Order: sequence, then structure tokens, then C-alpha cells
Amino acid sequence: MRQRRGHAIMVAFPFQGHITPYMNLAMKLASKGFLVTFVHLEFIHHKLLSSLSEPDPFTMARKSGLDIRYTTISDGFPIDHDRVDDKYWEFMLLNFWIRVDEFVGKLIRSSDPDLVPFLVTDTLFTWQTAVAEKHNLLKVSFWTEPALVFSLAYHVQLLRENGHFPCKDHVEEEINYVDGVKSVNTKDLMPYLKECRSRTLVHKVQMKAFDEVKKADFILHNTVYELESGILSALNKIQPNYAVGPISFSRNLPASVTRTLWSESDCSVWLRSKPPGSVLYISFGSSLQDSKQIVGEIAYGLLLSKVSFVWVVREDADLPSSFRDEITERGLVVPWCNQIKVLSDPAVGGFLTHCGWNSVLESMWCGVPMICHPLDYDQPTNRKLVVDDWKVGINLCEGGCVEREEVCEKMDGFMNGGVSERLRKEMKKVREKLHDALENDGSSEANFEQFVKDLKAKLA
Ligand code: UDX
Repeated sequence: MRQRRGHAIMVAFPFQGHITPYMNLAMKLASKGFLVTFVHLEFIHHKLLSSLSEPDPFTMARKSGLDIRYTTISDGFPIDHDRVDDKYWEFMLLNFWIRVDEFVGKLIRSSDPDLVPFLVTDTLFTWQTAVAEKHNLLKVSFWTEPALVFSLAYHVQLLRENGHFPCKDHVEEEINYVDGVKSVNTKDLMPYLKECRSRTLVHKVQMKAFDEVKKADFILHNTVYELESGILSALNKIQPNYAVGPISFSRNLPASVTRTLWSESDCSVWLRSKPPGSVLYISFGSSLQDSKQIVGEIAYGLLLSKVSFVWVVREDADLPSSFRDEITERGLVVPWCNQIKVLSDPAVGGFLTHCGWNSVLESMWCGVPMICHPLDYDQPTNRKLVVDDWKVGINLCEGGCVEREEVCEKMDGFMNGGVSERLRKEMKKVREKLHDALENDGSSEANFEQFVKDLKAKLA
């Protein structure tokens, strides 16, 4: 009997940190013979247009033989609506699924009957079950953060039973009862599990997302088994979980597909003028900003330290007004860059990061030690992995209070005092695990193959 072909329907979660790995997952699925329909929200498409040479980001992927169809849907809000407000997230939580449902219904009705559609959604989308059950689709959930964060959010009920959810704000206790998780201090929990944030929409979205993921047929993790083996094995006893990361570095994905929302400044000429390992790269990701006061302390600490740097500053107004005049040829401030290219440059010796999971993976892939300054979401928990478990980074400030003198001391010790040399030894081992995982016989490649096999068996 002829096997019907699988058709992955993918709607991208509208944040940069989710878009890049998700677009790479789409291409990886297409490279295994699936047809992929990839959907961006219209406002994201609008942002992408400024950095796209073609109206469709997957044009080059199609030229290299991948069967990806691209389209957009509206979330019903004007393109320029400020989507950080609660009204928007309330809508995403409660009503967005109706628009997705209409879209999926139409798509299925107009598709070749030989195709078997299935849903591949970002775990943070809360509508997967509603849409999948209505159209009788298999559900694949894609988690873009570390398995540790997944496991803690997945086990909130257990945390609740042990008095750690919602977690009292200033309590410091060890959580050592979650299967596969050795130990995590409550101070390193994701802030949305803390009491002070328990009424926020981020909290509600996360909680609903983790109810949903328990009904998924398959869960893909953008991490590496060898880094989080205990947690992944424990999760596997409950549901089929596959560590397939770092997906963005998978072999043979077309490089020329535009995955980021802003045009990139070229830092290569400037970096070429700097000695190897002498430049600190600074970025706090795509969606969060620290307070003006803290950015000011980091900026002045940087000036005091005399360390050379490339700093991605999304809102210029946040920098102290005289900063740009004072940095001379020692620093380069850009609104956005090709982060992987910068991290791969021999001049770069360190990364001051907010510990967004993509940034952590990219830094480890390139073997660049980190100074950690987490802001929100999964970042405090990611920091624990980077600094305490893998020992490939240090904390920017120990007491939680960012002051320029301490910043200066940290940066100087890190870049000039041999701290990064010590971290580099550990980094070598971690980097090797990431690279090995994506070799033909590596764990992430094998897990992806296994996932494809299991999925095809269920689709048949
Ligand atoms: C969000 C969350 O904040 C993060 O905690 C979660 O793990 C993923 O989703 P974001 O804050 O944007 O992500 O951080 P991160 O995960 O590091 O992703 C940023 C992405 O933007 C990286 O892939 C990085 O390469 C890219 N980037 C950043 C650029 O391409 N250029 C830049 O100048 C800065």
C-alpha cells in the first residue's frame, strides 16, 4: 500500500527567540520528505519584509529542494499594535485559536487528499488541543528552552505539593524531588512560578501551555541529550520526548533563509582590527530591556574596565547620553547584528548575555564563555545551567545589585585576568557535546530520525 505523505502545519510563535529555531525545524522536517505549510503572523511578516530580498523567506529553501509553502494569517490587530500589552496576550490565550482553526480547516479542505496533515506548534501556544481535536490531527509540540525549564514547569503540581508553587518570593530551598532533576534552588526558578508573578498573563500562558503539552503526541526539545540526560530520560517515561538540538546548527539547512526580524549591521571590518579573544560581545536578546539605571551601570563599568566590546542596543535612548562620545574606537554599538557570525569571530573572547536559550546554545556552539545577567522567563534557570552546572560562565553580579565598580572588576578579570581561560577548558567539553550531537551518528540526529520514524508510523 502506498504511504500517504505527511503535511506539517506550523504557525510561528511571534517572538524572535522562537522564530529562528522554529523556521529551522520547518526546514529540517521538509528535508525528511514532509510537506510543510509555514505560517507567520502578518505583523511578523511585515517586520521581516525589511530584511527580505524576496516576499517569501523560504524561496531559497525551495530552490534547494525543500517543499515548504509559506503564508500569513492576521491576528486581527492592526500591524502597528503594541503587542506587549495584556489585552493582546489575553486574546492570544483565549481566542487566537479560533483564527487558527479557520485557517487549518480551509487548508485541509483545499489540500490533496493523499496528504496527512499534522500540527507542529511551539509549546507556548495554548490552542494545540482545541485545533487538533477538531480536525483529528496528531500533535507535535516544540520546546525552545532547556529541558530543565520544561521539567520544572511540567511538574508544577509536584512543586505545589511541596510548597514551592507559587513559590514564596524570597525563600531559598532546594528542589530535589522532581524525577531526573538533581537539585535546583528556588531562587533559580523561572520568575513566573514565583508568588509575585502568579497573577500575570505570562504565568497564565505558561500554565495553560503545560496543561496542553501533556496531551501532545510528540515533544521535541531544542537541547542536547548529553547535556540534560537525566531530565530527558525521566520525561521519556511519561511521554515521547526527543532532544534534537541545537536545531539551528543542523547540517545542510539553507543558510540564506532570513530568520531574523531586523537588518544586520556588519561588524566584521571593525572586529578584524582587534586582537584574538579581546572583544566582549554584549546582547540581551530581542524582547526584553533592563532598566535605564542598570544599563547605565553596565555602560560605565564597561568604560572603567577598558575592555573592547560590540554591544547590541535595541533602544538607543537607554544608553547614558554621553556614552557614545566616550567609547572611541574601543567599542561598537549596533542595533542588531548577525550574532552567530560575531560569536564565531576570533576577536570575540566573551559574551555578556541575558541567557536567552538561543544565545546560550550559540555561545556554546562557538565556544565563547559567558558573563550572565538574566532578566526574566527561563533566563535565571538557564543561568544556573551555564554557571553552576556546566561551568562555562560566571555571574555578572553576585548580590543581585549591579554596580559599575563590580561590573568593571568582573569584566576585567574575565577578559584580562584569565577567568575566561579557566571557563574555556569546560567550554571545550560542552562544545564538543553540541557538535557531536549533530554528527550523522550523533544523538540529536538519531533522535530526529527516530521521531520521524515514530511520527510516520502514527500517520500511516
Ligand atoms: C526569548 C526569551 O527571552 C528567551 O529567554 C527564551 O529562551 C527564548 O525566547 P530572546 O530574549 O530573544 O528569546 O533571547 P534568545 O533566546 O537569546 O534569542 C535571541 C536570538 O536573536 C538569537 O538567536 C540571536 O542569535 C539573535 N540575535 C540577537 C541576532 O541575530 N542579532 C542580534 O543582534 C541579537
